Amino acid sequence: MELIKLTEKNSNYDALIIPFGSELETTECIPEEAKVPVKAAIEAGFFKGEDGEIYKLSMLAEGKIQNIVLVGLGNKDRINNRSLFIAFSKAYSACKKMKARIIRVVLDNAKEYIEDYDVVEKICEGTLFADYEFNEYKSEVKPSTIERVEFDTTYDRFDEALAEAKVCAESTILARDLINQPPAFMTPAQLAEEAKNVGEECNIEVMIIHKPEAEELGMNAFLAVGKGSVNSPKVIVMKYFGDKDNEDVIGLIGKGVMYDSGGYCLKPSASLHTMHGDMSGAAAVIGAIRAIAKMELKANVVGVIAACENRISGEAYLPGDILKSMSGKYIEMNNSDAEGRLTLADAITYAIREQKVTKVIDIATLTGAVKMALGNKTAGIISNDEELVRFAQEASEIACEKVWRLPADKELRPVLNSSIADLKNSAIGTTVGGGTILGGLFIQEFVEDKPWLHIDIAGTNWTHEDLPYCPKGGIGFGTSLLYNIVKLMSK
Ligand code: BES
Ligand code: ZN
Ligand code: ZN
Repeated sequence: MELIKLTEKNSNYDALIIPFGSELETTECIPEEAKVPVKAAIEAGFFKGEDGEIYKLSMLAEGKIQNIVLVGLGNKDRINNRSLFIAFSKAYSACKKMKARIIRVVLDNAKEYIEDYDVVEKICEGTLFADYEFNEYKSEVKPSTIERVEFDTTYDRFDEALAEAKVCAESTILARDLINQPPAFMTPAQLAEEAKNVGEECNIEVMIIHKPEAEELGMNAFLAVGKGSVNSPKVIVMKYFGDKDNEDVIGLIGKGVMYDSGGYCLKPSASLHTMHGDMSGAAAVIGAIRAIAKMELKANVVGVIAACENRISGEAYLPGDILKSMSGKYIEMNNSDAEGRLTLADAITYAIREQKVTKVIDIATLTGAVKMALGNKTAGIISNDEELVRFAQEASEIACEKVWRLPADKELRPVLNSSIADLKNSAIGTTVGGGTILGGLFIQEFVEDKPWLHIDIAGTNWTHEDLPYCPKGGIGFGTSLLYNIVKLMSK
């Protein structure tokens, strides 16, 4: 699918998208042949320009049927980047369902709504998202009909926004593909291969640490989680140095549990079949680093993914085990399903001690509780650093990926105390609640003195229903968020 800026006005399209604010202002930008039918639809009161509203009509022009999709953007005082992104994604999805080949988007009809660089960028990304499908395992695939999307716009930085949109959307789509692959295929070794491919594509160093070396490093908490699987664990390290004079190195740590059965604390069958999505944090890190490198951001970034599978076997770790983490802290493992934090603890220690990262950002499908707290559209963030929180909140607006801060509440911390080790990995049996916060507090034990941001995406990584910007399955949530955090930090 080709995305271009329209240069020559003609009627060579088969679907026209026209955005309208709630005041329903029609401008000269609307193609001549569409003016009368659009005006008639509005005068008849079929379309009001409300936020996210879609109205479809067809017209006969030059002997062929052309579809028109009116998309409402709502009241200008109440819109935000995400509402615009969703409204346009709905319009693209409608065109896809109509089997359009050439889509023209008359952006200039709602010029004053779409004059912000980040909005234009995201509206362009939406086209690629709406067209995304994961079809690798379907014997008969009806390919998408969309060949080209043309943007009719006079926005001065459009070419720049479009170029960035392509890179960012492709990177999120890469993350979706990694998540959607079934677990028998997407093993730790396979994820390492995928990361190496990204390394070659972007010309950055990707290093894989195999089990013997991880043992030597003392990454026993991480290795314990992977013990129950025949597929051996891998630590994936991706290095991008785009600001060599700067001593700051941002560590992006992604939870890479390729499959989370829960271990001996086995998950119920209803939640098992999506548990290959437990590496969505890793997928976001790989996607973000691809975008960071392609856009040549002025920043130093090291991605660390401790990839393994949480399975049951005669070798698997047992609740009651005591694990010596790479940091030296002993962990009483009282719940084999709270495995993500064990893998992250060692990945963070490795990033700080071996890769000398100066800031830590971890992203993980860590707790089911985050979905109870915030729903399935907002990720939870926890931090010890106000500046990182501000970056995350600003990046979240730009990325159209919502976040909400939860407190790193020290008063809850005692429930992670253990009577036989330094701490335990779950507060099972206690009544304090706050599962997401406790996950964060556990991870905080391993960030030493570093500024740290934790992003819990267990509610937002996966969609069980088709969305205008993503079909059922992995969303790639966090790719754009991480990319934009690093972009803001590099300014
Ligand atoms: N991978 C899960 C979290 C999860 C749940 C992700 C649902 C996606 C959808 C994580 O490893 C887990 O099992 N967490 C436990 C923690 C508890 C045992 C302290 C949970 O949320 O129940
Ligand atoms: Zn688990
Ligand atoms: Zn998990």
